[in-house]
Amino acid sequence: LDVDGYYNHREFPTFDGQIMRNIVTLNEFVIERQSDFPYASGDLSRLLTDLGIAAKIVNQQVNKAGLADILGSLGDTNVQGEVQQKLDVFADDVFISSLRGGGMCCGVASEENDGYISFDNDIGQNGKYVVLFDPLDGSSNIDVNVSIGTIFSIFRRKSSIGDRANINDFLQPGRNQVAAGYVIYGSSTMLVLTTGHGVNGFTLEPSIGEFCLSHPDLKTPENGKIFSINEGNLNSSPKAIQEYVSWCKEIDPKSARPYSARYIGSLVADFHRNLIKGGIYLYPSTKSSPNGKLRLLYECSPLAFLVEQAGGEATDGTQPIMDIEPNELHQRVPYYVGSKNMVKQVGKLLSQQRAVKA
Ligand code: AHG
Ligand code: MN
Ligand code: MN
Repeated sequence: LDVDGYYNHREFPTFDGQIMRNIVTLNEFVIERQSDFPYASGDLSRLLTDLGIAAKIVNQQVNKAGLADILGSLGDTNVQGEVQQKLDVFADDVFISSLRGGGMCCGVASEENDGYISFDNDIGQNGKYVVLFDPLDGSSNIDVNVSIGTIFSIFRRKSSIGDRANINDFLQPGRNQVAAGYVIYGSSTMLVLTTGHGVNGFTLEPSIGEFCLSHPDLKTPENGKIFSINEGNLNSSPKAIQEYVSWCKEIDPKSARPYSARYIGSLVADFHRNLIKGGIYLYPSTKSSPNGKLRLLYECSPLAFLVEQAGGEATDGTQPIMDIEPNELHQRVPYYVGSKNMVKQVGKLLSQQRAVKA
C-alpha cells in the first residue's frame, strides 16, 4: 500500500499472500508500442487484441479437451487430405469470428479452408489487413495431451481499401509481414509476437485471464545443442540432411556433440523450445513429399519472421524463407529454422550436395 492506502497500480496482491509486480498485459503492450508500427492508427493494435481474445477462447477448450465431448476426429478431411479433428474446426471458427467481428481485416486464409475468405461487409472491406493462420498446429497431439499451437501471419492488404480482398493480398513474401506470432497451449499458455521490433513473449495468467509480458525481447542463441527432425523420414531425405544428422550424433566433447535429439511433432512446440534454448528444426523434402510437409504462408513464414527478429535464421535450403514469392495459398516448402550457425551449416551441406549433382 502506498501512503494514501492505495495499491500501486502495477502491484496486485494474490490470494496466497504474494504480490504480482510490473504486470504489462498484451493489450497495454501493443497500445504502448503502437508508434512502432507502420501507419500507426490503432488498427493493428486492435487486430492483435482480437487475436489474443480468440487465443483465450481456444485455450479454454484445449484445456478441457480430455473432458468435453470435442475430442477425436470429426471424420472430415481438410483441403490437404488430412483427417480434421474437432478442435481444428473449432479453433478455425473462433479465429475467423474474432477477426470478422473485429473489423480490422478484409479477409483471412487458413489451413482448414481451401480458398481465402473475404469479409464482404462495409466494415470488413474497409479493413487494412489480411491474416493467414494455422488455427491448430500439431493437432495429432491433442488426443495425447501434448502441446499444440496456433500460428498467425499479418500483412497489409495489396488491394484498395473498400474493395473485396483478392488473392494477391494473401500471396505475399514473408518480408512484407507487419506482424506474426504463435500461441502455444503448453504447460502454460503463451503468445509470442513480433511486429518487426524484436520478439516478445506473453504468458497467460489464468487467474486474471490476461496475457502478461513474461519474455521481453527474446533472443535465440547463435549456436544450439538440439536438433529436431522426424528421423523416421531420414532415409528418404536429401543426403546432406542424413550427413548433418550423423554429424550431430558424433562424439566430440570440444563441440558439445553429440547434440540432443528432441522432436515433439508440434511445430510450434519444437520451435518454441529451440527458440529459447538454441537448436535447429528440420523438415526436409522427402521422396513422398518433394516440397516437405510444412506450409509456407501460415507455418514457415510467420515463424521465419519471429526467428529472424530473435537473431536466428530460416531457409528452404536455398534461400531465406522470408524472400520466397508464394504462388499458392497452401504451398509447401522444405524448412530449416533456428540458431543462425546451425541453419547456415545445413545450407552449406545442401549447396555442396547440389554442386556435386550439377
Ligand atoms: P498440423 O497439425 O497443423 O497439420 O501440423 C502438423 C505439422 C507440424 O506441427 C509438425 O511439426 C509436423 O506436422 C509433424 O510432421 P510429422 O508427423 O511428419 O513429423
Ligand atoms: Mn500445422
Ligand atoms: Mn493445423
